[in-house]
Amino acid sequence: MIVSAYEVRPDEMPYMKALEQQLGCEVQTHTEGLTLSSIPELPEGSAVSVLGMYHYGEAELRAMSARGVTALSTRTVGYNHIDLEAARACGISVCNARYDPNGVADYTVMMILLCLRNYKQALWRLQVNDYSLGGLMGRELKDLTVGIIGTGRIGAQVIRSLHGFGCKILAHDTHINESLSGQADYVPLDELYRSCDIISLHVPLMLETWHMINDKSLSLMKDGVVLINCARGDLMDINALIHGIESEKIGALGLDVLESEEGIVHRDRKTDIFSNREMAYLRQFKNVVYTPHMAFYTDAAVGQMVDCGIRGCLQMARGEACPTRLV
Ligand code: COI
Repeated sequence: MIVSAYEVRPDEMPYMKALEQQLGCEVQTHTEGLTLSSIPELPEGSAVSVLGMYHYGEAELRAMSARGVTALSTRTVGYNHIDLEAARACGISVCNARYDPNGVADYTVMMILLCLRNYKQALWRLQVNDYSLGGLMGRELKDLTVGIIGTGRIGAQVIRSLHGFGCKILAHDTHINESLSGQADYVPLDELYRSCDIISLHVPLMLETWHMINDKSLSLMKDGVVLINCARGDLMDINALIHGIESEKIGALGLDVLESEEGIVHRDRKTDIFSNREMAYLRQFKNVVYTPHMAFYTDAAVGQMVDCGIRGCLQMARGEACPTRLV
C-alpha cells in the first residue's frame, strides 16, 4: 500500500522512514501541499496524509475519490480544513492526530507570562542597548483571574499547569471536565468575559466559534484584558483585535495563530512583497507577541503526529479500526 504524504517537513522524515519499515508500506513524501492540480498525479488507490495548511472541500475530495482514494488523514488535531460531510459523501474515511497536550499548554503559559512581563519590549530594547526599566513593570499571576475557554485535552492541561501559579481560574465549555474540580470554576461565557484579566482560547474552529472574539465580546471584557490564542486564527476577528489594541481595550495579545495565516506561516516570505496588511500592522505593536503557528512544534508532538497520520490512514484503507477516525 502506498501512502502519499503532503506538506512533509524535513523533521518528519525520520519518523516516516521508520514507519515504512514497521507498517510494511511505502510512504511517498512531498514537501508541497496536495491541491486540485496535483491530485490527478496521486498513485491510484493510495492512502493520503496531509497537514493543516490547505483546504479540502467537495472539489478536492471528489477528485481524490476519482483517483481511488478511500482514506485521508490529517497529521493535526484540528480538522477544520477538511469538509467531513463531503468526505463522507465521496466514501473517503478521515482521521486526525492525537498528541500530548503539554506542548501547546506549555506554550500558552509562556505566552501569558511574556504578555504580563512586557517581554517583547524588553527584548526589542536590548537590541539597541537600552537597559532602562520604564514601561516594563509587569503583573503577577497570583493577583489575576485567568479564563480558559474550552476544557478539552489542551485547555485542561493549561488549567493544571496554571494552578501552581496561584491565580484564580474560571473556565467555560459545553461539557464540564470533572477532573478539574478544585482547580477551576465553570461559569457562563459572559461572566468569564466580564471577570477575567487574561482569557485563553482552546476550542475547535466551527461555525459556532468562528470570530467568537469580536467587537461585541470585547466590549464585555475588562479594560486592558490580555488575550491568548494558540488554537485557530479564525476564532478572533483580526479587525476587532486591531481596534482593541488601538483603543487600549486590549492590554496585550499573545497569538500563535492569526486569521488568514494560510500561505504565510511555515514559509520563508522575507524576500516577498508582504501584502497581508492586517497581519503586518497587528504584529508590530509593542504589546502583541506573534509567532508562526508553532505551539504544537515539539519533538514529542511531531513523532505522535506522524505516527497517527501514517498509521491512521493505513488502518482506514485496510479496513482496520482507527482510534482517531472522524468519518
Ligand atoms: C494542530 O495539530 O491542530 C495544529 O495546529 C498543528 C499545525 C501543524 C497545523
